[in-house]
Amino acid sequence: MIRFKVKSKKEMGELAATYYVRQLEKKKDSLFAFATGSTPIPLYDELVRLYNEGKVDFSEVRTVNLDEYVGLDVKNENSYRSFMDKNLFDRVNIKKDNTVLPDGMAEDVDKACALYSAKLAELGTRDIQLLGIGNNGHIGFNEPSDGLSARTFAVTLTESTIAANSRFFASQDEVPKKAMTMGMAEIFDAKLILLLVSGKAKHDVLDAAINGPVTTQNPASLLQLHPNVVVIDATENDE
Ligand code: GLP
Repeated sequence: MIRFKVKSKKEMGELAATYYVRQLEKKKDSLFAFATGSTPIPLYDELVRLYNEGKVDFSEVRTVNLDEYVGLDVKNENSYRSFMDKNLFDRVNIKKDNTVLPDGMAEDVDKACALYSAKLAELGTRDIQLLGIGNNGHIGFNEPSDGLSARTFAVTLTESTIAANSRFFASQDEVPKKAMTMGMAEIFDAKLILLLVSGKAKHDVLDAAINGPVTTQNPASLLQLHPNVVVIDATENDE
């Protein structure tokens, strides 16, 4: 695991973007797994900037995403599909057909999870898996628990995650109670895992994930077992 400490979110985004630029120079049709939340926004902004300068081309890029809320229509501004469209896909020359997220509106959620797993297997190993970290150590929506799932599954969100994510919704009641998330084996099926962490509030959970014991009670700690993880740590201050 390599850990870069940076001074600001902007620097975090710029450093993270260099991995995508290098990867796209090697392979135009790279396969990326993207993440949502406020943390990756500086990366997406930087990728858009580089795209506008003609330095990256997304025309052949294929993407999957870590997770999606259950029960939010794709048109709902809080769905992760809307988030990705707004923050990245609508701003660059990616083909929407090449962007895949779990189907949060499926009638049969378990079947939709199995279909998503099958899609991930069909697409193969991700070139870069992007991750943020929840306040409780969750990655994707793999919440702390006695056991973790290997494959995509429907998860009941913890109260602390619902409370943390309520800042994007009109009220806490509107936050979906369930989500679909890639499982741990699927997150691990990547040549490079890029973990972005910003804000002082995440310092301790990141420290526990990197230096503490590997435990399902802090899902991010399992990243210690992956051979190629880069952490870009902007937790020194809130800027
Ligand atoms: C959500 C997402 C995670 C993300 C986390 C942290 O729960 N499912 O993928 O890492 O929020 O979000 P933020 O970056 O806004 O702190």
